[in-house]
Amino acid sequence: MVRHLVTIDDLTEVEIQAIFRLADQFLTELAHPDRPHRIRGRKQLADQFILATLFYEASTRTRFSFESAMYRLGGQILSSADPKTTSAAKGETLADTVRVLQNYADVIVIRHPCEGAVRVAADFAEVPIINAGDGGHEHPTQTLCDLYTLQREKGTLRDLNVLLCGDLRYGRTVHSLVYGLARFGARIIPMPAEGFELPDHVTRRLLRDYDCRPLSNEEVQRVRHEKFPVDAVYVTPERPHQRSLFSDLPDDPAAPLKARLPPNALAKIDACYITRLQRERLGENAPASTYPVIDTAFLKDRRYKSSSVMHPLPRVEELGYDLDNDERAVYFKQAAYGVPVRMALIAALLEIRPEILGQPAPARRHHLYQQKTLVCDNPRCVTGLTSEQRYLTPQFLLIPEEHRVLARCVYCEHDLAPRFLARASDRIYSHNTGWRGPLPNDLLLFADLHSAEAHGCVPPTPVAAKTT
Ligand code: NCD
Repeated sequence: MVRHLVTIDDLTEVEIQAIFRLADQFLTELAHPDRPHRIRGRKQLADQFILATLFYEASTRTRFSFESAMYRLGGQILSSADPKTTSAAKGETLADTVRVLQNYADVIVIRHPCEGAVRVAADFAEVPIINAGDGGHEHPTQTLCDLYTLQREKGTLRDLNVLLCGDLRYGRTVHSLVYGLARFGARIIPMPAEGFELPDHVTRRLLRDYDCRPLSNEEVQRVRHEKFPVDAVYVTPERPHQRSLFSDLPDDPAAPLKARLPPNALAKIDACYITRLQRERLGENAPASTYPVIDTAFLKDRRYKSSSVMHPLPRVEELGYDLDNDERAVYFKQAAYGVPVRMALIAALLEIRPEILGQPAPARRHHLYQQKTLVCDNPRCVTGLTSEQRYLTPQFLLIPEEHRVLARCVYCEHDLAPRFLARASDRIYSHNTGWRGPLPNDLLLFADLHSAEAHGCVPPTPVAAKTT
């Protein structure tokens, strides 16, 4: 069965580590003699294969490093960096574009401004699809580079304190990264620009799906200081976390959440990961009035003495040039690792090295909702594109919470909180105050009253009284 990389959860921790070992091997065999983080030379591993890069958004590192990686594996590339030159400009849908392109290439790398667009492509493709960034959703291959850099710099990913600075709301690299950090047992310390905090659906997943727990206010106060205005720290449990998010392993309620913060656990920050303000995704939102800047002055505090300074790049004003010669700065190495890491990923997905990927991630454990009563309310979701609406049916995973049932869009993974629900069998609606017991198969969800009534649902008692 063909494997795709749409979100970082498409790979298990074991597979990620296998990809890193192969990247290490490529680096050892092909390293530049004076620059050991840089690949020089070529292997003939993928000489039977073609990789296509289909980029509907600007890119420097991601596209070039994918193409370089394919060349260094001995393969060939087809490249489209300008959406105006593909049939998308004529109104062709994503589904049709990938169904055609898969006849010409063996693996397709896609970047798209809409969240969930790469999921759509993967649903229609018979060759591996790789997400090179879909709007503000995820950027899983950047996360592979980030985790690989961290592991090489620190020797481990477990128990690391990682400070995340800047635009955590729209920065897709941050979203994939927090899930990766949580799964490998690192501590996540968000330091967002005001108004650019991690989105609710991301924090909800950290807590719910990745067993993270936030520090109490008291604990946050203990670590807070003038230059360290963190608003939460997410601690990942210490128990082995080898399951992928969508594993069907039962949640073990008896398993103790062992997350206990040892004294001084936050005295040292292992890495500062800074991102630029994602201006292109701001829409109506005003830019942050103050934006964190990481520079030599910021890093004076002793807790940053051995912090690796990371950035997915490009930088704008949030990362000082005064750091470029500081040995803590690893952002150019991080960009260089894009080649061996992507070489290893391509080799895995094309099954040139079949031992790397295990069984595909098991089916999702949440109820799938496909009734046409709900539409995703995320304005940047691919399901909002008129071209894609010709064939796409909105789909949601139902997430039961104590006081409501949430619907998570399968494409962009935003959560929707429908206000009303009903059973198809009686069409009597009520407020969405949750559902006790297993969710019924005939459950209907509605964003509002108008929608419930438009779908033929009626209120509970008054109508019942009238008809009797
Ligand atoms: C990032 C991206 O495109 O999301 N760049 C990259 O791929 N290395 C970060 C950014 O654009 O800010």
